[in-house]
Amino acid sequence: MNIIFLGPPGAGKGTQSKILEERHGLVQISTGDMLRAEVARGSDIGNQAKALMVAGKLVPDALIIAMLKDRIAQPDCQKGFILDGFPRTLAQAEELDTMLAADGKSIDVVLFLDVDEEILADRISGRFTCAKCGQTYNEASNPPAKEGECDACGSHEFKRRADDKRETVVERLKEYRNLTAPILPFYEKTGRLRKVNGMLPAAEVTAEIEAALEDSGAITKK
Ligand code: AP5
Repeated sequence: MNIIFLGPPGAGKGTQSKILEERHGLVQISTGDMLRAEVARGSDIGNQAKALMVAGKLVPDALIIAMLKDRIAQPDCQKGFILDGFPRTLAQAEELDTMLAADGKSIDVVLFLDVDEEILADRISGRFTCAKCGQTYNEASNPPAKEGECDACGSHEFKRRADDKRETVVERLKEYRNLTAPILPFYEKTGRLRKVNGMLPAAEVTAEIEAALEDSGAITKK
């Protein structure tokens, strides 16, 4: 099963991808995480992407498509994957279909997490992650059970993303509106798009996603 999560910054794509990854034995591929790793390594890709990411702009299609193509060719992706943050432009969406078709594969479902813009900035500015294991938290909706301690690994170190400042979020939302939202009709017309209410509490969003996957025939009810 190959899935795409679409939605604006802060919609919950990463949160829900990680849950599906565990439940269904799929591999989560976050192009944002991959780029942040390249930036941290100081690689050529990282150096090309860094300033754009900090400014809230998308990185060039050619760069991200090449990176994604390499990733989905890895053996761990053969049983199925969840794309979190890709595609983000029509050119990326079309190229993805082409590269998968060349391997006899396709995207089964595109899950669109629908969230009103007004709540996204608050969600993003409240986000922080464990510096050791990457577990995601939110000051308002999902704090660690014990303040200052990661639920997953017990670490006391947390970090915030460089592009989660409010002024950068405004730019990221503009990029989403102008370049990413227009690809929704591309998936709608081929019957692959499923809309999910991303404004519900996270556990209820997961339940809606599972229902959408069943409805689309991607999974069968247990
Ligand atoms: P990327 O890392 O993909 O960022 P994004 O799409 O802006 O999405 P986020 O990671 O901010 O949000 P999310 O939807 O995953 O939400 P999350 O689950 O964390 O991309 C970063 C940058 O990389 C881009 O700006 C671009 O420069 C570049 N890039 C990446 N891919 C690219 C591509 N394909 N092409 C070109 N450039 C690319 O949740 C957010 C917060 O809300 C968390 O704190 C969470 O705990 C909380 N939360 C989650 N669900 C709920 C809920 N239901 N209720 C309340 N709170 C919730």
